Amino acid sequence: MESSEIRKKFLQFFEERGHAVVKSSSLIPDDPSVLLTTAGMQQFKPYYIGKADPMKEFGSRNTASVQKCFRTSDIDEVGDKTHLTFFEMLGNFSFGGYFKRKAINWAYDFVVNILGLSRDRIYVTVFGGDEEVPFDKESYDIWHKEVGLPEENIKKHGREDNFWGPTGNEGPCGPTTEIYVDGVEIWNLVFNEYYCRSDKSLEKLEMPGVDTGMGLERLAVMLQGSGNVFETDLFHPLASVIREAKPGLEDRIVRVLADHLRSAIFLIADGVRPSNKEAGYILRRLLRRVLVYEIKHDIHAELFALAVPVIKNQYAKWYPEMENDREILNVMMDEKSKFEKALAQGVKEIEKYDAISAKDAFYIYETFGLPFELQKELVPDKTGELKKEDFDKEFEKHQEISRAGLEKKFGGHGLILDTGELKASTQEELEKVTRLHTATHLLQAALRKVVGDEVKQMGSDITAERLRFDFSFPRKLTSEELQKVEDLVNEVVQKDLLMSYKEMPLEEAKETGALFFFKEKYPDRVKVYYAGHNLDDAFSKEFCGGPHVTNTLKVGKFKITKQESVGAGVKRIRADVE
Ligand code: GLY
Repeated sequence: MESSEIRKKFLQFFEERGHAVVKSSSLIPDDPSVLLTTAGMQQFKPYYIGKADPMKEFGSRNTASVQKCFRTSDIDEVGDKTHLTFFEMLGNFSFGGYFKRKAINWAYDFVVNILGLSRDRIYVTVFGGDEEVPFDKESYDIWHKEVGLPEENIKKHGREDNFWGPTGNEGPCGPTTEIYVDGVEIWNLVFNEYYCRSDKSLEKLEMPGVDTGMGLERLAVMLQGSGNVFETDLFHPLASVIREAKPGLEDRIVRVLADHLRSAIFLIADGVRPSNKEAGYILRRLLRRVLVYEIKHDIHAELFALAVPVIKNQYAKWYPEMENDREILNVMMDEKSKFEKALAQGVKEIEKYDAISAKDAFYIYETFGLPFELQKELVPDKTGELKKEDFDKEFEKHQEISRAGLEKKFGGHGLILDTGELKASTQEELEKVTRLHTATHLLQAALRKVVGDEVKQMGSDITAERLRFDFSFPRKLTSEELQKVEDLVNEVVQKDLLMSYKEMPLEEAKETGALFFFKEKYPDRVKVYYAGHNLDDAFSKEFCGGPHVTNTLKVGKFKITKQESVGAGVKRIRADVE
């Protein structure tokens, strides 16, 4: 079954059952707490909670759509036969129209009678219950007694698998039931019975809702029998063009290129532009990965120019924004020239050395985005001695959360880390204090941004329970100021800035504007830890020995729990991360 037929049949099936067919919303969501659209229900959030009237808007309490989605969670998996960043999701939704009985019966009917997947290939999962939310017996009974699935084909799972959390900070949520065919999950039916508040507490929704999602690509794999998403009709045209551009290219490379090119084109068509933050940064990563692969794998064809018309031809009938092909290609080519400039700078930097060490190579990678392989390839005479394993070691050192901290390993007290400032006795605690440590840096920077440079660190103390930060400031902060500081830290966390360090001579480090204790005696060379893509315009920079998380998203949700006065002109903030 061709993918266009799958779309048609799905929408028709639900239209015949009283659903209004609604267009996909943009990949840039209205909800500012979410970076990109990850599910079909997002555009309908107001209807679930009674903030908008579906009758007025759609003439029905039920809708169906094919939604453009983008999920970053699988980005490192892309390259195998199934994982993608961009995909389309078929979904039917109800805001007080129908609930579990119809949703389950229709889903089953569609899978078996319309898609023709036989009943004995199917098993399902339902929510098994926990302390807060009861077992979804209703769904279980519908599957067993009405649909007639044998009990061994109905499995109970917990929160992790069978509960839809809110998209963004808060929103509708509830138990799910999932349909598997040949062991592959194809359809997720969510029963929004609750509203999940930002503090994670649940409130029963007045009007329960239905939200389902079924990945088009996965369905195409199943129905086209290829076992490989890149061989379905959704990807075949683009993958072929890439293979023609460079015959013999490894499958994994073809798949990464195909996924990233398609995703990038969709993001640009919806108005995302390459930048160093948020969705723009994701787009930049996708495009730059394609460019790196072009050089690394000796692809001389212009993949951007080849991909745009293929995607336009294939998708413009569903997504008219694809007609904007010229603008899309311009954005891509503009990023290419920026990347080439950064590469040239990186190469120039390497030229300054007689021979670069693994550490230098890592610095160049971080600063100019020039990966190891390209350094070797573009400047062979300065990188001749450089070994991949040494570069990888640098990379790991940087990633290893316990770095520096563990060097100060502390015997005797059962502590595995005691830097004076940070204390942890187990690996788990170590991970927590590492997150809190980065949070402390962000907190200091945020305080200075909100109330001014008068804020000077007097000391800090971090355990797995909380961080404590003492600083000089003449008065107590108002609750609005504290809120602003907290919000700013969370904003930076969400930007997912790189947290890294540069080691340099003390004097040079002072000139970077990084914060340090005036009274402390530092060695001749110090590390400057910074949160940002480069040291110059980093959000936070401080002299520090680590350890820190590698990127700010890992900090988690930051919360100020208390402000106290601890002596003349010294304030103390306690905070925690979730
Ligand atoms: N919102 C249902 C899903 O994305 O699976």
